[in-house]
Amino acid sequence: MAEEQAKKKLRSQEWFGRQDKMGFYYRSFLKNRGFPQDQFDGRPVIGICNTWSELNPCNSHFRTIAEHVRYGVLEAGGFPLEFPVSSLGEVTMRPTAMLYRNLAAMDVEEGIRAHPLDGVVLLMGCDKTTPALLMGAASADLPAIGVSGGPQLRGVYRGQIIGSGTNIISMSEQLRAGEITLKEFHEAEAGMNRSHGSCMTMGTASSMASMVEALGIGLPTNAAIPAVDARRNELARLSGRRIVQMVHEDLTPTKILTREAFENAIRTLAAIGGSTNAVVHLIAIARRIGIDLTLEDFDRLGRGVHCQVNLMPSGQYLMEDFYYAGGLPVVLRDLAEAGLLHKEALTVNGRTMWENVREAECWNREVITSIAEPFKPDAGIAILRGNLAPKGAVIKPSAASPHLLKHTGRAVVFENIEDLHHRKDDPDLDIDADCIMVLQNCGPRGYPGMAEVGNMPLPQKLLKEGVRDMVRISDARMSGTAYGTVVLHVAPEAAAGGPLALVRSGDLITLDVKAGSLHLHVDDAELAIRRAAWVAPEPPMDRGYTRMYVEHVLQADEGADFDFLVGKSGSPVPRDNH
Ligand code: FES
Repeated sequence: MAEEQAKKKLRSQEWFGRQDKMGFYYRSFLKNRGFPQDQFDGRPVIGICNTWSELNPCNSHFRTIAEHVRYGVLEAGGFPLEFPVSSLGEVTMRPTAMLYRNLAAMDVEEGIRAHPLDGVVLLMGCDKTTPALLMGAASADLPAIGVSGGPQLRGVYRGQIIGSGTNIISMSEQLRAGEITLKEFHEAEAGMNRSHGSCMTMGTASSMASMVEALGIGLPTNAAIPAVDARRNELARLSGRRIVQMVHEDLTPTKILTREAFENAIRTLAAIGGSTNAVVHLIAIARRIGIDLTLEDFDRLGRGVHCQVNLMPSGQYLMEDFYYAGGLPVVLRDLAEAGLLHKEALTVNGRTMWENVREAECWNREVITSIAEPFKPDAGIAILRGNLAPKGAVIKPSAASPHLLKHTGRAVVFENIEDLHHRKDDPDLDIDADCIMVLQNCGPRGYPGMAEVGNMPLPQKLLKEGVRDMVRISDARMSGTAYGTVVLHVAPEAAAGGPLALVRSGDLITLDVKAGSLHLHVDDAELAIRRAAWVAPEPPMDRGYTRMYVEHVLQADEGADFDFLVGKSGSPVPRDNH
């Protein structure tokens, strides 16, 4: 009887449960694949939301993962139907995959809402696919479970371990400095990406996969199982089984993605030395579900949390090592035992966070250090404010040079990315190691899409002198695999008329991470004169999606979502199409 009641509630029955003309349409067209009548009898219909694409190498194994999800759904008595959504490949998309995150989130939300689905399994991997799918699923608010594709195996080059992004940046600077040959460079390319999966450093993909686990919207161990490890397929299968139960329990994202869950995620992000990009994405996801997450939350909760994970770009190991050392459950257990986690937060398996992690064991304290002897103390993402960033900016202290965390320097300003590329290696550029490089017009509206260009390459002449880090400030983002003393996400951005647009070469700027301040030493009267003379840059496109993006994108401190996408509307059944 209880089962009958559950069946009656299923959303998919509004399509498949009808014994009329429309029921004929809905069932008959699917029967072309050989589905028998009993598949339409009221069992949960599970969408497998797939971001597989040959243009997104990090998600290229997702057909296999989807098959394992399918087995799990069938085993639990569900009816699996796989569907594609936009796939955002970080390295292949130009000008930046972030420009399309909101488009993909719309695709996911509307794809869920338009179809006869009762629950969804979200297959995500490369950086932007994770927030896009979570944002869309949060707004649709049908039962949803996240399955990450997993990181690649370690990169290996001439016997050395190399990490995604991190060593690309260091080796390209070595090449520019004349320290390695082009032949060596090409050899390293082949050794870095030697298996399926996402970047295997604690970059944005791994940070967001960790957020899936910390938020409780994915099963335990989701973050770190390598993509090609059989246990990744097992996790997919178990997720397929679990989503069917979640439909019966009506366990929707609203019940999982609570403020407590986001607070757990923020502290976890600090403890793993995670990507600055996660700040923008977590805020965007939270606002979809009605939680007003702010930069202050990151400051309040992340401050004082130690980085426990010795992974590139902050450390030396890679995601594979993290998994073998015990993975994210160890970090979550340590945080919970230290009183830094909401233990009672509900997760997708129906258990609390604490129930999931209390028996986690660490097998290698060099990779996952203890809170008592952390890899890097007090390493949460720091929020900066001041007259240069009235609505905030971020910096990742764990990836910065300690001696630059308090620094005053002379600004060297680049008006946009083209200006940077054009002048950075000019031998006559007036710059030294104490200067602060400032990049304008690379924020959400300015680029557009807030590209990962904030970790500006250092001028070649300084590289040749042995300089490896300088303070850099912009309204852009940076890859989670990158490192350096890089101030990002300055808000409001230059293209929106923020004070960043008013900085001129020669101005003095003070960065003080401990004090949380970013100050431009120019008085208000002079800034007012500059503002009066400021002219907003022309939008790069006057039609289509880019136009919509520029007109509706919010600033970084609000998650860079579209103003009209904030919030959720659930998944009411749309009217018939005939
Ligand atoms: Fe896809 Fe790094 S480029 S995860």
